[in-house]
Amino acid sequence: MFINTDISHVDEYYGLSEEERKKFDKAVLEELEKTPPKHLETEWGRFQKLTREADEEVENLIDNILKEMTLEQKIYQMSGDNLPKHAGVNPPRYNFTPYYAGEDLELDIPGIKFTDGPTGIVMGYHSTAFPVSIARGASFDVELEERIGEAMGIEGRSGGANLLAGVCVNLLRHPAWGRAQETYGEDSCLVGEMGAALTRGIQKHMMACVKHFAFNSLENVRFRVNVEADERTVREIYLPHFKRCVDAGAACVMSAYNRFRGTYCGHNGYLLNHILKKEWGFQGFVMSDFMWGIRDTVEAANGGQCMEMDVTQFFGEKLVKAVKEGKVSEAVIEDAVRRILRQKIRFAGVGSEENYGIEKMGCKEHTLLAREASEKSTVLLKNEDKLLPLNLAEIRNILVVGPKAVIPNIGDTKKGSSAVYPDYVVTPLEGLKNICGNHVGIRYIDGSCRHMIQYYAQRADAVIVIAGLTCEEEGEYDETGGQSGGDRDSLELNRAEREMIEAAAEANANTIVCLQGGGIVLTSSWEKYVKAILIQWYSGMEGGNALARILFGVVNPSAKLPVTIPASAQQLPFYHQGLEEIKYDFYHGYFLVDKRGETASYPFGYGLSYTSFSYKNLFVQTKGNDVIVSVDVTNTGERAGEEIVQVYVAYSESAVERHLKELKGFSKIFLEPGHTGCVHIALSKECLQYYSEREERWILENITYIIMAGPSSKEEDLLKVNFRFDE
Ligand code: BGC
Repeated sequence: MFINTDISHVDEYYGLSEEERKKFDKAVLEELEKTPPKHLETEWGRFQKLTREADEEVENLIDNILKEMTLEQKIYQMSGDNLPKHAGVNPPRYNFTPYYAGEDLELDIPGIKFTDGPTGIVMGYHSTAFPVSIARGASFDVELEERIGEAMGIEGRSGGANLLAGVCVNLLRHPAWGRAQETYGEDSCLVGEMGAALTRGIQKHMMACVKHFAFNSLENVRFRVNVEADERTVREIYLPHFKRCVDAGAACVMSAYNRFRGTYCGHNGYLLNHILKKEWGFQGFVMSDFMWGIRDTVEAANGGQCMEMDVTQFFGEKLVKAVKEGKVSEAVIEDAVRRILRQKIRFAGVGSEENYGIEKMGCKEHTLLAREASEKSTVLLKNEDKLLPLNLAEIRNILVVGPKAVIPNIGDTKKGSSAVYPDYVVTPLEGLKNICGNHVGIRYIDGSCRHMIQYYAQRADAVIVIAGLTCEEEGEYDETGGQSGGDRDSLELNRAEREMIEAAAEANANTIVCLQGGGIVLTSSWEKYVKAILIQWYSGMEGGNALARILFGVVNPSAKLPVTIPASAQQLPFYHQGLEEIKYDFYHGYFLVDKRGETASYPFGYGLSYTSFSYKNLFVQTKGNDVIVSVDVTNTGERAGEEIVQVYVAYSESAVERHLKELKGFSKIFLEPGHTGCVHIALSKECLQYYSEREERWILENITYIIMAGPSSKEEDLLKVNFRFDE
């Protein structure tokens, strides 16, 4: 029953020249067409008619199924159904249809039907392309994120999948990480809350897979780099956001490619068995990252790996043999299979069929949601002299500059597993034309000629320069596939774009820069030239419309930075491309800037609005297991707007070294001009604990906590009050 586990030709495949690969692909595709894989007739096979069972009944049902199964059948559940021969050959492209694992036609057990990813459903050509995760991180909007999860779940299910690997919560330790766009930012609290919200949303319709567990934040060396970190750093900085998603009920966790303390994460007993399953009580299953996500049959199985995806290289027959030789116990196999079956049974009862259909892919409701997400994700960094919003009634003509104004720049579309293929993408130029109609003249130039920029800039009322990154400069990295994507070696804007900005600003004081990208770019060398800067990230299929609506004030921006923009790369933790070994420290992002007493260009949590807000009456009290932080926020400007209220905590007289402040909660409030609202943010007492390496446990100290609330992590922006539990 197993697929061929001889992998030699997978290596050979990657060793082939492009010409030879094309020939090989053609032959495989022809063969696939002749013998297409067979599937179950119903979506959930023997679980189709199950009504939701009580936990105990589910476990009894699994006991009975396990008794029915041979060892081979059990291990089949744990092994990806993709043939090694098909590994690099995807009809008509990678991720076009779901990847199956453990679909057992004989036992009528449904397969896992896997799809990616964090930006939307990667299957087909019609799904909704949302702004990337780092953008949505900037919205700090968990309710919105849950709605996005629901939309993705509906589209995923409509496309024939039952598991979505969309919840990427690797911490952005350094913004040069090629896949910065796939996560929510540099702070564990933010990343965890957003990841949990996406999990909840997706799981109203299908299984959510949380990835990549753990320490996966270097791209070019992801298949081999070894990450070291002390236990406190592991527990306090790199894992809590994963736990947050597990606590939200995630069905699946994908292990990372990289090594942790010398052992591949896909084999890592400490991470998978000890922390994830035992300590956190995870009830779902672990899945390996695709191909080379595990490297050894016995070590992976005993280390807690439940499923090898997508190609079976080390499980399948090799695992049967290892069990027969006594190297892996049947109990280990049964635990993995139980976890997989448990989730299949659970999700067979989730969602109702009439919700799904091909017409749901990229439907109006979802594309409007993508626009809303982009509007709530766009960060206004600078707005001197209140240049923005532009006034449609007053402006007569604008100049739009830069090649990125006319390309569909929605993220890692070249080689990335997160590439989404929507029906259309509204570019910035199109968005501006949509809003301006005949009221405003728009001239577009690509910005390659300085004289032309200056000539037209002098004649425009305002200049909008679109600059930043594309999938050429950052993204997933495929060691076999050329030079694009991967980690960045510089955080600067490219020279052509810096010159473009300078030329425009020299000729026109009303120059606005709009940055695209997943990772941030440094602004220090050019920001002084321009009056307004926005970060729009990779803003999804409706990004152009969202941008235009912000620039012209139809929408008031509210997003805040999910990552620090440092004054220079020196403010960041150690990073180098091509490292085989790296130590992750207790300090990165705003923790590191704070510790060194430095000033970032723009601090974590920072972002402007077209209105202004003031904070008063910070008050803290305990309620059961929670610490409730309350603060009054007033809209002191002239426009209605939303404010993201952030709560940070500092520690006075702690027994251990703590960060100078840590984000512990956030919330959003919408206020009409002149109105005041009281925001209540509940922090659990647990989030104030530190992890004691000596005692191997979390400790809640009876010390003075300095509770801070305000609009950003900037010290001057925060109200403070001291708080003790005994008060
Ligand atoms: C990526 C994962 C992705 C998987 C399947 C891997 O290369 O690291 O994030 O889910 O491919 O496409």
